Amino acid sequence: MPAFVNTDECTACEACVEACPTEAISMDGDHAFVNADECTDCEACVEACPTEAISMLD
Ligand code: F3S
Repeated sequence: MPAFVNTDECTACEACVEACPTEAISMDGDHAFVNADECTDCEACVEACPTEAISMLD
């Protein structure tokens, strides 16, 4: 299952956008958005996020 962004915790820092090896994450207004079709469940964004806004859906 793809990464999930808790939009209440996201500060739009774009660290996850930089971290994602498949460019699955883009910014949607004031929060990050994960394109589930591109996500490979690598969890790089989970590690990168300073506010722990990203988790893996299971
Ligand atoms: Fe930043 Fe992405 Fe987290 S924009 S606050 S690393 S969800």
